[in-house]
Amino acid sequence: MCGIVGAIAQRPVAAILLEGLRRLEYRGYDSAGIAVLDEGGQLNRLRVLGKVARLAEALAAEPLPGTLGIAHTRWATHGEPAVHNAHPHISAERCALVHNGVIENHEALRARLSAEGHIFTSDTDTEVVVHAIYAELARGLPLVDAVRAAVQGLRGAYALGVIDAQDPNHLVAARYGSPLVIGLGFGESFIASDVCALLPVTNRFIFLEDGDLAELSREAIWIWDRSGQLVERPMKTSLLSVETIERGPYRHYMQKEIFEQPHAIAETLEGRLSGERVPLEVFGHRAAALFPQIRSVRIIACGTSYHAGLVARYWLESLAGLPCQVEVASEYRYRRAVVPEGTLFVAISQSGETADTLAALHQAKNAGYAATLAICNVPESSLVRESDLVFLTHAGPEIGVASTKAFTTQLVALLLLTIALGRCRGLSAEEERRLVGLLRQLPGEVEEVLRLDATVAALAERFADKHHTLFLGRGEHYPIALEGALKLKEISYIHAEAYPAGELKHGPLALIDEEMPVIAVAPNNGLLEKLKSNLEEVRARGGQLIVFADQRVHLAQNNGVTVVGVPATNELVDPLLFTIPLQLLAYHVAVLKGTDVDQPRNLAKSVTVE
Ligand code: G6P
Repeated sequence: MCGIVGAIAQRPVAAILLEGLRRLEYRGYDSAGIAVLDEGGQLNRLRVLGKVARLAEALAAEPLPGTLGIAHTRWATHGEPAVHNAHPHISAERCALVHNGVIENHEALRARLSAEGHIFTSDTDTEVVVHAIYAELARGLPLVDAVRAAVQGLRGAYALGVIDAQDPNHLVAARYGSPLVIGLGFGESFIASDVCALLPVTNRFIFLEDGDLAELSREAIWIWDRSGQLVERPMKTSLLSVETIERGPYRHYMQKEIFEQPHAIAETLEGRLSGERVPLEVFGHRAAALFPQIRSVRIIACGTSYHAGLVARYWLESLAGLPCQVEVASEYRYRRAVVPEGTLFVAISQSGETADTLAALHQAKNAGYAATLAICNVPESSLVRESDLVFLTHAGPEIGVASTKAFTTQLVALLLLTIALGRCRGLSAEEERRLVGLLRQLPGEVEEVLRLDATVAALAERFADKHHTLFLGRGEHYPIALEGALKLKEISYIHAEAYPAGELKHGPLALIDEEMPVIAVAPNNGLLEKLKSNLEEVRARGGQLIVFADQRVHLAQNNGVTVVGVPATNELVDPLLFTIPLQLLAYHVAVLKGTDVDQPRNLAKSVTVE
């Protein structure tokens, strides 16, 4: 994880770097730092424990003048969060470096460099890189050649920004396995972990590829690929505006993103429905030839994206008649999986940079899959660039660490995929027309469910003093219960578990008492009566039940049972609609508890390390 930003300009860069860090803070926020080269050729550095706001305070007290600099916001991997472990790291007062990723052979490199006399001042894996580069500079190499030589000895993943106090006219960047983008200004150039960091200064970007090395001056940039060839990478103009990533009137990004869902879902559907059909081409031009050959689906993802995959399994099997397996990427990548002929590999990821998901994709490429499909929210991400087929969710940037609109738009994408694959497997035109009609109504229905906000906010008060909660669901609503539990634990730090309601008797019932609220989702489907019996089992043991139920369902509201009617409409889109009150619940509980909603402790949005 970690966010990096760098600038070489004709104006002071500290404020630009600081603003960039604020926008990258979702990537990590346990410490932050900045190094700027001043006119006298002196490298000045400030580092703080904690968030970027503290770095801003430190900078206000001690401004760093200069037109060349780098900055970093950290999510600790090697070495605890501490000032001495914060980036930038500096070697011999001359070379400064910021790094995102993990250097796997750092122990061997540290031993060698220490033996050569380099003094280490941190516990990080990163510090070996700055000393290795300095060793090359000390041999007389220019900065870009020094970085080229040093990265050859690295194993692992890195995005690097490097400056040399003796070269005020260049900023060097390198990328392998961690994202890095170059921003092109007029008379100034930038680097950052993502485009959002640089939107205030430019909308023209070059996305580096794995193995690329780049040298930036104020007027020009040069890029070499992994074979050392000077290459031209395409310049792209970002359509994102500064406003799309502002918080606006909302108190938190998570709240904003929950309320953006009707719009985000409409954007996901935009251009993806043709009359009463889902054209196969919305998954890429090769989909029309590939999809009729698909006999099974394997979905790989992490976190919330994994939960989206779990819901899709129910849809793909029941509507498209396709066997479907779903697995977390960190498990899948380390086992030998059997790949039946005609299997479509689907990787789901909001960011498209999650290390385990990417590694699973790389593995899938040589494993005999019919094709790989990425369902992703970030057009320029590694996942999108490396997959055969792509579906972009168009949810807009998601800043809150707890994923909300990314999840519901992934579900929309997976419904479209189910319909598209279903048609190749005999789903009738009439059924397709019905399903497409239901999808068209979805944004308005989500809007309706969001009206439960005040009701859910009042309910949240019952959770503020609780330490454990249990979420129950059945069928495709079991993954929704999993997602509800994940949201609550991520941002309120209340222990939350989810179970398929039918499993209650096999263990969790032993936990039920008045101190453990049980939250259930009760759609109006074929499993309702079964679910009702499961809820009785909880009631009979004195459990406190909160049931989000289809408003057409009658559930007795008596002592110990609170029922919240959800304006749900049909089985197909119910999982999306029932997700909304669970997101709102987690949000309001976290607000009441006073936790950091958008940047919960120990987590980060983009998990680019294993
Ligand atoms: C992190 C985030 C989650 C996200 C997961 C997978 O854990 O905090 O919100 O679901 O990574 O991320 P991806 O970008 O691959 O969907």
